[in-house]
Amino acid sequence: MSFDLILFGGTGDLAWRKLMPALFQAFRHGSLPKDGRIVGVARDDLSDAQYRALIKSRFDEVELAKRPSEEEFARFADLLFYLRMDLSSPADYPRLAAKLQEHTADTVVMYLATAPGLFTTFCEQIAVAGLNGPQMRVVLEKPLGHDLASNRTINESVRKVFSERQIFRIDHYLGKPSVQNLFALRFGNALFEPLWRRETIANIQITIAEELGIEKRGAFYDSTGALRDMVQNHALQLLCAIGMEPPINAHADAIRDEKLKVLRSLKAWTPETLRQHVVRGQYSAGTIDGLPASAYRQENGVSEGSPTETFVALRTEIANWRWAGVPFYIRTGKRLAARSAYIEVNFRPAPHAIFKSPLGAANRLVIHLQPKDGLELHLLAQGQDNRQNRQQTSQTLAPVQLDLDFDKRFGAERVGAYERLLLDVIDGRLNLFVRSDEQEEAWRWVEPILESWKNDSEGPRPYAAGTWGPSASSAMIARDGYCWTEEC
Ligand code: BG6
Repeated sequence: MSFDLILFGGTGDLAWRKLMPALFQAFRHGSLPKDGRIVGVARDDLSDAQYRALIKSRFDEVELAKRPSEEEFARFADLLFYLRMDLSSPADYPRLAAKLQEHTADTVVMYLATAPGLFTTFCEQIAVAGLNGPQMRVVLEKPLGHDLASNRTINESVRKVFSERQIFRIDHYLGKPSVQNLFALRFGNALFEPLWRRETIANIQITIAEELGIEKRGAFYDSTGALRDMVQNHALQLLCAIGMEPPINAHADAIRDEKLKVLRSLKAWTPETLRQHVVRGQYSAGTIDGLPASAYRQENGVSEGSPTETFVALRTEIANWRWAGVPFYIRTGKRLAARSAYIEVNFRPAPHAIFKSPLGAANRLVIHLQPKDGLELHLLAQGQDNRQNRQQTSQTLAPVQLDLDFDKRFGAERVGAYERLLLDVIDGRLNLFVRSDEQEEAWRWVEPILESWKNDSEGPRPYAAGTWGPSASSAMIARDGYCWTEEC
């Protein structure tokens, strides 16, 4: 099988931080089909050789399991080509067509790692140039639009040119091995499913915490914010994976139908819940790993007095028979105390206590996404025997945990999220990609939050870089009698 992967935004942050390393890993492990080309597209004036040198120099800055030797990189570089092109200029599309004619490919993947503002022109011009044949696949990066209306406009223009099975809306969280394992845990094992409901589960917490700030993406981030950057897509996809009904099979639409139902069942916002159940924050100066970190408003590309949120915590419910009344908490932010993403399923305490348990102790399943990839099951057990106080120890339980580390079990060099998803696009597998109706439903649900912020003169609450966000986030969850793990 032969392929062309045309990477629009070929010199951008995503290309060198995630996509090129992922393609390199796939190449290193022999998973890329042999007869292929990766063509980086951008506006800079570069030759193929200069582009290869640029990628090589950037590889020194990113996380790679093992640095490539000169010889290994040279073999990878044979796949790399460069095309100078301005996506907004119709006059440039014939050059794209000419580039594609240089190589006969069974599959042509057009990866749009560019500003979504360009997608509509791109689709129109692709159609004019006749480049939307059945061998074409288009990959759309998030956030697709900045609200429901702009998302619909993009989806409509893409659908005019490509059929749904050619459209790959990427959410790289769905490609993470831990998210694959969440599906395996829930739908490949019989153990947890009977417990996966309101009768046994008290609450579910989804945390995606980053130590990183906004890096060199100030202007993009300032017009986006955490709600659009992380909640509308990654966090809601995780919520779907944890809350969905078992799909009838593992086909793309069976999975996507069930995720869509979750999104449709999310409790509608009211003025009261918007006030009580949503907290937005913005980092001020602080300390990360012992080093001073500047405030968000001091970052390059951020407007003076910017109201953009770098942190969101919220509470919602899935209003259906399985989950009615169970709070789902979502929390995500930049410049937090640690890089840590996990889902915590908190079970209800035993209904009748014959032992003494430590305060607040109950069973808990923690699904770690990163940096660790694993599962922890927290249980209560008889602690060490205390010979001096035999009566008391036999009645008092201690917390213990079963700990499964997938990196240790399966090896740390497993297929990464982008690698997995890029290979899925080349192979035409849609299971881990988002359908337009899911995306629209997610936008519909976040829009009232965005609207309420427009009318809120208070702005985001400050939190010092290196902490777990504004205190209002702890207060929100405490009102239900719960706490975020770090604070319990
Ligand atoms: C991206 C966001 O989608 O996800 C970034 O745009 C964020 O702001 C990144 O840093 C987080 O991804 P990961 O895989 O590093 O958790």
